[in-house]
Parts: sequence; structure tokens; C-alpha cells
Amino acid sequence: MRPNPTEVKRVGIVASGTIGGGWAAHFIRNGMTVKVYDPGEGAEQILRDRLSQVWHILERIGLHPDASPDNLIFTDTLEEAVADAQFVQENTPERLPIKIATFQAIDAAAPADTIIASSTSGYLMSEMAVDLKHPERCTVAHPFNPPYLMPLVEVVASPDTSEEAHQWAVDFYRANGQQPLKLNKEVPGFVADRIMEAVWREILHMIDNDMATVEEIDMAVRYGPGLRWALMGPLSVLHLGGGEGGMAHLIHQFGPSLKAPWTFLEAPELTDELANKVIDGCDRLTDGAPIKKLEAERDDLLLKLIDMLDASDLWHVGNPDAKK
Ligand SMILES: NC(=O)c1ccc[n+]([C@@H]2O[C@H](COP(=O)([O-])OP(=O)(O)OC[C@H]3O[C@@H](n4cnc5c(N)ncnc54)[C@H](O)[C@@H]3O)[C@@H](O)[C@H]2O)c1
Repeated sequence: MRPNPTEVKRVGIVASGTIGGGWAAHFIRNGMTVKVYDPGEGAEQILRDRLSQVWHILERIGLHPDASPDNLIFTDTLEEAVADAQFVQENTPERLPIKIATFQAIDAAAPADTIIASSTSGYLMSEMAVDLKHPERCTVAHPFNPPYLMPLVEVVASPDTSEEAHQWAVDFYRANGQQPLKLNKEVPGFVADRIMEAVWREILHMIDNDMATVEEIDMAVRYGPGLRWALMGPLSVLHLGGGEGGMAHLIHQFGPSLKAPWTFLEAPELTDELANKVIDGCDRLTDGAPIKKLEAERDDLLLKLIDMLDASDLWHVGNPDAKK
């Protein structure tokens, strides 16, 4: 029987790369036993090293009394990882044939009422759920990296997902400290990635056309819109941009400029030259610092920002259900 979303003790993780490993840390912090399957070379050691590396961050967020690295169990097969799981998070590479095969294997091996969630960044559940016995318990649950810190999870149902399963997944993520966004419509790219992709396209065009460097673009966002977006959403920010007249004033003032050809909108050709310009620029920008060091700095700053949001009423802007 499906447990109450607040009482899950056993989680199965399929694939433990950047995202699956981050989920494993998140569920372990929440006191659960996490069984992980990943056929990658050295995957177990990589995950154990990562867990010890971020343990101090998990402590700072707050450990459940049962939280322990000993609750991480690596399995030799996918079936062992999910056979007695009360919840499964799928995190295989973003390739549709892999997602389809993985969902079929999990569906066959997990208990019939266990919810199975996919971390996919863009596939729809209706594309990944092919010939499943129980498609009604499958949903997309798209996290942000690193999932043990980033609150948002986009929980996107397919037309086959039951409302009960969809709501259960939302309640489960919320019970474990996240901000689930429940989406009933299967929109490609969901909400956040559609916005990020539009920004990414413009960034690539600006670099391709030598309009701005990697350094200039990062600085512009970091000290400009990024700061405000971190505190409110883009729409609340624009609402304030309209002064006393709010969004109504802003729409009328800036509406006509929407027709000005500021942006490209179409994706640029991702040539080797463009790719190298972006890659070299990022190396320059970060002074070639090791990724592990940059991740540790990012985690520290993110946690400070989240603590600040937690302590503020602004956290509730637009989301009356938000945790406090
Ligand atoms: N990286 C991000 O920022 C991010 C954010 C949100 C969602 N996602 C999504 O999460 C998923 C995983 O992405 P990632 O960045 O962690 O990838 P990754 O390359 O870091 O990890 C993929 C892992 O899958 C394992 N794997 C490969 N084939 C497998 C199989 N058949 N069965 C089980 N494990 C297998 C690999 O060994 C590897 O450890 C993708 O769907 C991606 O779109 C990624």
C-alpha cells in the first residue's frame, strides 16, 4: 500500500550522476534508506565521495535524526534498487530510448503502487511511458541542480497520471522541504527550462556575433536581473518596475518596444567555433578553478540566500503554500 507522503522510508534511485547523486544526498538527509543503481564505472565510489563532500551542507540544512551515510546502499541491478522502494526517482541520461527502457524496467520491478518520478529536463511523461503496466503512478519531477539545495521541483503529470498519484508526489516533495510546482499540462520544457532556454539562445547569439563576452554576460545577469530574480519572480520584479502604476503602467509603457528587434528568438547554429568560444570563455571566467571548488562555493552562497528567503515574507510572494 502507498504510504502517507510524510512517512516514506525507502527510496530507489536509478542512475546517480550529477542529479541522481544529488537526489540521493537529499533523501538521505531526510532520514530515508536509499538504494541506488548505476552501472557506470566507479559510480558507487563517486557517489560516496560526493556524499562526504556535501555532508557539511546537509548538516547546515538540517539532518533528520535517522540521517546517516550508512543508509546509502548500492545495488548490482536496477531490480534490487526498486523492489521494495516506496518511491523511485529516475535520473538516467537525457535520451528517450534510455528513458523508455528504464521506465519499463522500473515499472516491472517496483511494487505496483510505488510512485515513479523522472528527473528529465524536457521529455514528457507521455513520451517516456511506453507499454507500462501502471502508467498512472508515473510523473515527471524536474529538479534543479543541486537537488539537495534547490527548492523547485516541477511535478508534471501526463494525461495517464492519476490525480491521486500526482498530488501524492507533490506532497512528498513538500514534506521533504522542497517547493513543488504542480503542473497539469504537459508543456515541452515545462516552465523554468523554457525560460532558461530562451535566455541561453540569446546568450549564444551574443557570443557568436561578438556582441558581448562570456564575462560581460555573466556580470550583466549576476549583478542585474539575477539578483532580483533570486528574490522574487520575473513578473513581480516587472510589477515593481512599473512604479506606483505597477504592471498596468509597465505594460503600456514598454508594450510597443516588444516589437523592437532586440532579440533573435531563433536558436543559433551551434558550430565548433561558437562552442569553443563559450567553453574557453568559461575557463577564463572561472580562472580554470576545479569544478568541485566552484560547487562548494555555489552551495555555500545558495544556502545563505535560501536562509535569507526563508526568514523573509518575500518567500511567500505568489505562493501561499510555500514552506516557512
Ligand atoms: N545536470 C543538470 O543540471 C540537470 C538538471 C535537471 C534535470 N536533469 C536531468 O537529470 C537526468 C540525469 O542528468 P545528469 O546531469 O545527472 O546526467 P549525468 O551524465 O551526470 O548522469 C547520468 C548517470 O546515468 C548513468 N547511466 C547511464 N545509463 C544508465 C542506465 N541505463 N541505467 C542506469 N544508469 C545509467 C551513468 O552512469 C551516469 O552516472 C537527465 O534526464 C537530465 O535531463 C539534469
